[in-house]
Amino acid sequence: MLQKATALLRKLDQTHLIRYMETLEPDMQSAMAAQIADLDLSVLNAENASDSRGYFEPLYATTLDKIAANRERYTETGLEAIRAGKVGAVMLAGGQGSRLGFEKPKGTFNIGLTRDLYIFECLIGNLLEVTEAACASVPLFIMTSAENDSDTREFFEQHNYFGYDSNYVWFFVQEQFPATDTDGRLLLAGPGKIATAPNGNGGWYASMEKNGMLDVIREHGIEWLNVFAMDNVLQRIADPCFVGAVIASGMASGAKVVAKTAPDEKVGVICLEDGRPSIVEYYEMTDEMRSRREPDGTLSYNYGVILNYLFRVDKLDETLHVHLPLHKALKKLRYMTEDGQMIVPEEPNAYKFETLALDMVKLQENCLAYEVDRSREFAPIKNKTGVDSVDTARALLRSNGVIL
Ligand code: UTP
Repeated sequence: MLQKATALLRKLDQTHLIRYMETLEPDMQSAMAAQIADLDLSVLNAENASDSRGYFEPLYATTLDKIAANRERYTETGLEAIRAGKVGAVMLAGGQGSRLGFEKPKGTFNIGLTRDLYIFECLIGNLLEVTEAACASVPLFIMTSAENDSDTREFFEQHNYFGYDSNYVWFFVQEQFPATDTDGRLLLAGPGKIATAPNGNGGWYASMEKNGMLDVIREHGIEWLNVFAMDNVLQRIADPCFVGAVIASGMASGAKVVAKTAPDEKVGVICLEDGRPSIVEYYEMTDEMRSRREPDGTLSYNYGVILNYLFRVDKLDETLHVHLPLHKALKKLRYMTEDGQMIVPEEPNAYKFETLALDMVKLQENCLAYEVDRSREFAPIKNKTGVDSVDTARALLRSNGVIL
């Protein structure tokens, strides 16, 4: 195994680790060789997602006024599906939250001021509003990562699942990819251990399969999965009106979107790419795309995604083994130098490789872009202060009547 690992490292131009391995005791050498055999090192040579984009065209959304006109009908359809047990929810909680710089899982962050109010608590509270209206539980799958899995589970246990029926909650752990420095050299996490990081939020369905969750889905007869980010404290989960609108549209998927605040807002926008629904990142848009307008004056590429999608399970099954494009993200990662010094970086220092949930939209035949009011449904917590921060989320929670 040792020889194989050395040969692979040489082939991948990672000779600094061969020299490092030579300094280790035999049992540590074997453990490191075993880790190398296990890791998906193909990511090191993979093409970056942005290098191969197709032809973009606008995709129009079902707007707030159209939804308001059909609210009752959509909501009833959604509630029926929830009561029939056809709707499950998947919380993406495997991220490292490095921008927030909070040591524990991000969902355990206390956003309250005069009382405790945790991010996870806000989300479960939002979901409880739906299960109470439907008089039925929504199976909830929570994706964690190797790093935060036990803390996340313990936290839910300690807080009695914030009143949610724990028989309807399942945890599963996502996979890891290796991480490199900015020159593409693999980093060490500690003695004899290559640094890895969660493989992005795009692997959630494949991880559900690996962890036996698809059996749960089949046993419960779940037909739709609402996948969402855990860092938006106003996230509406299994929203009956959204579920009903997607079902009524006959489409294979749905995406909650918000109207952009400005043509150059830094948000991924829903569009068509080579005729299929897709998301174009703000940095992939040309100036022409950013400023293009429809005859009524609205931006042609106007609707930003908020990481809240509804997918049909049978369609997800069809795309289960399709490789998603790989994105390289520059983030802060603690690592060990080859001479044993631990480094805690102040600035982003490492590339992590990720697949993204938004790329699953392109695997669907069609997607209903469903507009929501951002002041009521979009309060992401990414940073400590400034844009999309604890401060902005608190202000939005307050304006929605939440006591902090
Ligand atoms: P982000 O893209 O904001 O990543 O995640 P992050 O790792 O949480 O935060 P930073 O960039 O280090 O500050 C968006 C959503 O996707 C989940 C996150 O938990 C969040 O709900 N996510 C992200 C995963 O579940 N797994 C991942 O590997 C990455």
